[in-house]
Amino acid sequence: MKVKIVADSLAGGRLGYELFAKALANGSRVFGLATGSTPVSTYDQITASELDFSHCISINLDEYVGLAPTHPQSYHAFMQAHFFKQKPFSNSFVPNGLNPDENDETTRYEEIIANHPIDFQILGLGRNGHIGFNEPGTEFDSATHRVALTQSTIDANARFFADKDEVPHFAYSMGIGTIMKSKQILIEAYGANKAEAVQQMIEGPVTKQVPASILQQHANVTVIIDQAAAANL
Ligand code: GLP
Repeated sequence: MKVKIVADSLAGGRLGYELFAKALANGSRVFGLATGSTPVSTYDQITASELDFSHCISINLDEYVGLAPTHPQSYHAFMQAHFFKQKPFSNSFVPNGLNPDENDETTRYEEIIANHPIDFQILGLGRNGHIGFNEPGTEFDSATHRVALTQSTIDANARFFADKDEVPHFAYSMGIGTIMKSKQILIEAYGANKAEAVQQMIEGPVTKQVPASILQQHANVTVIIDQAAAANL
């Protein structure tokens, strides 16, 4: 893992942008994208830049089960607002949260990824060490699956919803095995509430209890963290 410690998320976003730009210049055409507050500083730099993704494909990590693409808290809507409206891709895939058939949706999504292997994947880090929506205990070789969110994740994401009872309890997420197939991975984490997960991801044992710890075994991972998130290293 290449670990870059920066002053704050703004500086991290600039570095994240540079990695996207370099990947694009080096021929990456399939970008795996993430939601959450973490990648926003990178996306802001990208959308303000000259980078062109109109010949590229994007594939998002996850989506809440039960939310329509038009729901303001859906990850479809998030991506539209923070990335696609300003920088459209030739095709953008996000799991369909309204597909009630779990098997159909997860098989469909894995086929999309198999047909478009991911060159560059950006990730955020959950406070409990999750990546995508792969909660502690998820098998390292998992494919796209339906996830029951933990209380810790539901609580953490409640801030985006008007009412805590509105937070979905299930999501479709790429699996850890799916993520690990990406050729290059960038993971960012900012703030003191990520410090423990960051320490366990980088220095801890590789364990299913910390999903992000498997990234230690990937050949091309860059970690961008701020001083606060690096506090326990
Ligand atoms: C959600 C997303 C993850 C994200 C995590 C952290 O659970 N599914 O992809 O990494 O939240 O969110 P934030 O970046 O807002 O801290």
